[in-house]
Amino acid sequence: MKLEIDQQRLNSEIETLAPFSDAEPPAVTRIVFTPMDLKARAWVISRCEEAGLSVRQDAIGNIFARWNGADPTAPAVGTGSHIDAIPNAGKYDGVVGVLGGLEAIRALRRSGFRPKNSIELLVFATEEPTRFGIGCLGSRLLSGTLSAEATAKLRDRDGESVDEVRRKAGFIGNLQDVKLPKGYYRAFVELHIEQGPLLERAQTSLGIVKSIAAPASLRISIEGAGGHAGGVLMPDRKDALCAAAELILAVENAARSSGAVDTVATVGVCDVFPGAVNSIPSRVKMTVDLRDTELARRDGAMKSIDNAVETISRKRGVVIQTELINADAPADCGPEVREALANSCRERGFPFLEMVSRAYHDSLFISRIASTGMLFIPCRNGYSHRPDEYASPEDIARGALVLAESLARLSA
Ligand code: GLV
Ligand code: MN
Ligand code: MN
Repeated sequence: MKLEIDQQRLNSEIETLAPFSDAEPPAVTRIVFTPMDLKARAWVISRCEEAGLSVRQDAIGNIFARWNGADPTAPAVGTGSHIDAIPNAGKYDGVVGVLGGLEAIRALRRSGFRPKNSIELLVFATEEPTRFGIGCLGSRLLSGTLSAEATAKLRDRDGESVDEVRRKAGFIGNLQDVKLPKGYYRAFVELHIEQGPLLERAQTSLGIVKSIAAPASLRISIEGAGGHAGGVLMPDRKDALCAAAELILAVENAARSSGAVDTVATVGVCDVFPGAVNSIPSRVKMTVDLRDTELARRDGAMKSIDNAVETISRKRGVVIQTELINADAPADCGPEVREALANSCRERGFPFLEMVSRAYHDSLFISRIASTGMLFIPCRNGYSHRPDEYASPEDIARGALVLAESLARLSA
């Protein structure tokens, strides 16, 4: 089998997809089910069809592009990632796993390889939490981690539910049917940029993921009392933003004092009402994103945040409500997939690192139903979720080659 990645074509497809964006280049903003996202999805589907794959979409918008194996009834071997992008992001997060996965399949077809198990490219819907506040809706539903009822009710900032938004986008099927039947995948492999600096620092082009850290997130609203910025004296204030400021530092401290560098916490949203220069903030809505490689430590940090909420609300006389959006367990990658990836690297003489994924991915949820692994490639300075995210065409092509070889091993 002579496997060759068409690096130039893969690179030019990444460049072609990037301007399907609601932000000025080089930034990419592609929020799920917006007209721009739908155009990008249609373009990806056209690429899959051109490659001879049969395409179907489910009720949440997951795209499946299948190459039937010699035994089409056997469990499939899956690969894929996402193409939605957070505001002001780059062009590689998710996209490398989708277009790299497609090129891996094309390379296998060109080589004359004939899989026993079908090989399927999966483009997950709504991996990013931007629109509905919770990430990985597609893979949560596929794996049965989140119920159809709970998903349908989630709302975006404009108050539109997942159900309304997806129907308007043309996905009218039953959300109950998204869950995959038992044994649907024999194995799943996701190619992704590292989103951290370790590969680059080690001057190593490939990373095989051992485990994926456990993410959790909260939505917090703080209700204080507004008023005239000149008229209300300091002892009489219940400033919601001052309470938020204290809470944000408590969130930072919960991570910093956990005893491990693996605990990370971020407040990425802080909306202030009414947002006028001479008006005391009466309401704040904020989010907390908390992650750790160890579940117990993550839950311990969550407990410190809960304690801070109580102390701050009592001390400042404000009402603080917290809503737990998700608190997921970490995942261990499947030994069979890790072995296939490692053997593929060895066969080609490519050194690799074994590493932890600190970002979450749809693989976190697919690992609940199938043996799952991830292959990382470096990104410059470890930058991701920003417009200057960059992965070199050589590293992307090397990742796609190891992916192709691993898909062959898993489907032979
Ligand atoms: C995924 O985008 C994450 O935030 O880890
Ligand atoms: Mn992302
Ligand atoms: Mn991603």
